[in-house]
Amino acid sequence: MKKLLTVAALTAVTALALAGCSTRTEAPQAGGEAEAGFAADSLIGVALPDGTSENWVLAESLFNDALTEAGFEADVQNAPASNTVAEQQNQINSMVTNGAKVIIIGAKDGAQLSSQVEAARDAGVTVIAYDRLILNTEAVDYYLAFDNFRVGELQGQALLDGLAAKFPDADSYNVELFSGSPDDNNAGVFFDGAMSVLQPKIDDGTLNVVSGQVEVGQTATQGWLAQNAQSRMDTILSANYGSTELHGVLSPNDTLARAILESVRAAGKPLPVVTGQDSEVESVRSIVAGEQYMTIYKDTRALVAAAVEMVKTLQAGNEPEVNDTESYDNGVLVVPSFLLDPVVVTSENAAQAYADNADLLAATEG
Ligand code: BGC
Repeated sequence: MKKLLTVAALTAVTALALAGCSTRTEAPQAGGEAEAGFAADSLIGVALPDGTSENWVLAESLFNDALTEAGFEADVQNAPASNTVAEQQNQINSMVTNGAKVIIIGAKDGAQLSSQVEAARDAGVTVIAYDRLILNTEAVDYYLAFDNFRVGELQGQALLDGLAAKFPDADSYNVELFSGSPDDNNAGVFFDGAMSVLQPKIDDGTLNVVSGQVEVGQTATQGWLAQNAQSRMDTILSANYGSTELHGVLSPNDTLARAILESVRAAGKPLPVVTGQDSEVESVRSIVAGEQYMTIYKDTRALVAAAVEMVKTLQAGNEPEVNDTESYDNGVLVVPSFLLDPVVVTSENAAQAYADNADLLAATEG
């Protein structure tokens, strides 16, 4: 079942490529630039945020390879960890100045790029928001991501499933909730998705959030930084869990899941059911070892491949395929989106879910 979903994600990429071909009105001749959207060796910019999770680091090399292989000139930048917003703004400005035809952006702060993307649009650049939405501007042409709301729903359901499996005799559970960085639009979307599943269980008393911290603002982890999640967990444990058992924690990603587990370990308490996201190598090992409960597989290779297919479609002068025109409102417009399917991974299906990914498959082997 899970494997089918992975295949579905990759099939979606293929479909995207095919759709690009099928909307072509006239097949291009060899070297037939006349009808192309832009020259086949154009500069393509990719502006990624700081490396707060492995997926961003991986995306950098994948974009470099795939764009170069497709014949484009690639300018792929990961923003530095400090002064990140300003540095990313500068990187995007330079890409525009250097004549990029498409700029793919994984925003550090989705609310602070409107002047940059508006300048890009004025210069005729197509802007693709990658993984994270860019907010409050009309100048975003496409959004390409794994379905973030679905990620949250899967995390919420997995928390319930993990609790039922680990504590079969309990009829209520003590849990804590974590969300990501408030400057990343995804953080709220993941949390909303998870709460769509968890809130009814809080309301009916199945889940007891002992700290009482249930609002996204109270649960936020600034910068997606592990140390911030760890110190919030330390504080919550010492204030609320003296003699009370913690059964489960909603963690929005793997980096924070490991930090939360670290905090619980340091407090000398039994490990709770902890969710995650990203399929980071260390977390896959932890899942197989029975520590972290689950993660989400968002295959970065598939997302980068989909982005490069969009670029190729634009280069050919065609309209890229989208599969969602309703969900991702950036405050000014609902951005036409191409969404891929995320996959839940636990120790039970890890080997199957990562069957096509040698690095992650190796991590399931210890
Ligand atoms: C991404 C997650 C990632 C987080 C922190 C989010 O925008 O969607 O995959 O864990 O950023 O890097």
